[in-house]
Amino acid sequence: MGTNFPAIRKAVFPAAGLGTRFLPATKAQPKEMLALVDKPIIQYGVEEALASGMDNIIIVTGRGKNSIEDHFDVSFELETILEQKGKTDLLAVVREISDMIHVSYIRQKEALGLGHAVLMAKDLVGDEPFAVLLADDVIDAEEPALRQMLAIYEQTGASVIAVQQVPRAAISSYGAVQPVGEVDGRWGGRVCRVGNLVEKPPAAEAPSDLAVVGRYLLTPTIFRLLEQTPRGRGGEIQLTDALRALAAQEPLYALRFQGRRHDTGDKLGFLQATVELALKREDLGSEFRAYLRGLAL
Ligand code: G1P
Repeated sequence: MGTNFPAIRKAVFPAAGLGTRFLPATKAQPKEMLALVDKPIIQYGVEEALASGMDNIIIVTGRGKNSIEDHFDVSFELETILEQKGKTDLLAVVREISDMIHVSYIRQKEALGLGHAVLMAKDLVGDEPFAVLLADDVIDAEEPALRQMLAIYEQTGASVIAVQQVPRAAISSYGAVQPVGEVDGRWGGRVCRVGNLVEKPPAAEAPSDLAVVGRYLLTPTIFRLLEQTPRGRGGEIQLTDALRALAAQEPLYALRFQGRRHDTGDKLGFLQATVELALKREDLGSEFRAYLRGLAL
């Protein structure tokens, strides 16, 4: 089915956060570069964007984030050594990373929040719809979460956010969504229109138990709204606040995506992701499973 809506080619990764939850590991290393099994967290998100047809990656960085740029760059020294040693498998792995994408970087000089980070990408994105991925949220899914969201954009031309049902008590760690109207019959009953959103509400005041997860497809309207968004929760410019304004002007859809989401910004979530992803690996899974079974838990 053809559509007239512009294709989404650009994916923005806010990555300027300090990573204080992972100190001391993040003292001299960005949290986005912590490895899940053998791949930095941010690479999972970049691969999801690519698998969803977005090959123009924009990373919003800050002080101390140079290793992210090095990671996605060509490493001549490393490639030469691997070539000399005949390590063709590893060479392919290393080359794949730098070959896969076109990356631009923009610095967020002040830590003024997620909304501010997204606004930094305005000139690089231009006047077209784009995606935002929060690398902390690693989503393991048969069909990439972003691609599931694209299916809705392609039919509606509207902004789409990913949501997940969470226990009531947990909603205060997320943006909470207030659905309006009936559940949309299309897309397997997993989509609703968003009426309102609140950033990290106390559980008792939350409009629902639907939590915003770190995947957004946004029309460029969001930039104009972000420019007008005052500092909100925590004194920061919140993307959630700009989305509330967007929902008042344009349709905004929420998708309960299919897949398993890991909050790797949390220590327990990081450990769980490591175990689950390792268990799924062809080269490690069976030995690792046997090892876990042998632990006297
Ligand atoms: C951010 C958003 C929040 C969202 C969450 C998803 O919060 O502000 O609305 O629910 O990501 O991971 P953070 O976790 O960065 O504090």
